[in-house]
Amino acid sequence: MNKVLLYWIATIGLLAAVLAAAMLILPRVNWSATASPGDIETKIANYIIRNWITINAGHRTNPLSETAANVQSAKGEFSEHCALCHGLDGSGGNHLEADFYPPIPQINELQSWTDAELFFVIANGIRLSAMPGFSAHHSAEDIWKSVLWVRHLPKLTPAERETIRHEIGSETEAHEKTMGPMPGGMKMRQATPNP
Ligand code: HEC
Repeated sequence: MNKVLLYWIATIGLLAAVLAAAMLILPRVNWSATASPGDIETKIANYIIRNWITINAGHRTNPLSETAANVQSAKGEFSEHCALCHGLDGSGGNHLEADFYPPIPQINELQSWTDAELFFVIANGIRLSAMPGFSAHHSAEDIWKSVLWVRHLPKLTPAERETIRHEIGSETEAHEKTMGPMPGGMKMRQATPNP
């Protein structure tokens, strides 16, 4: 047999063996959302997603300016479609009392992202995570409203923060009325509002 052919058979055999080993091992890894994966898996996933966003997001900026009326309607948009998971205050404390992996990020940690990157990720969502894509059922303007609320969160006035605290508090009360008290006097969203 010629050497080149032998080389190809050995290479394909090796690849098939690696693939077969992966198929045997991977279903035995803990894929639970309540457990954190290892460092290598986290680094690879973050690298891929972050670069996918940077490469594809483009350079658009938010066409909506931060007027009082726009901020009010941005808050409504975020409250309706995002607060379930992210918390109205962006703290990541979710209404579902559930653990997520990848975890829900603190919105304030995303302020270094460009408007275009925020728009892109909200429009498309992230496959194999709980982050849904909104573009098929929401207008671009609605998505820009969510971006506006993301940008507004670090600038909340003390009065706005107080209102949000009340809103979160009354949600916990309403929840306890239907579900009974939460174990150990837990509050619906324990994370404190972003400073
Ligand atoms: C069902 C839960 C859920 C809903 C609803 C949701 N998100 Fe998310 N979001 C997530 C999770 C989980 C992540 C983390 C994904 C990751 O790290 O791969 C995330 C990530 C993000 C990110 C950052 C992307 C990243 O890679 O960390 C932004 C920005 C974001 N969400 C904004 C929003 C906005 C705005 C809305 C509403 C229009 C929204 N999300 C609705 C669960 C949700």
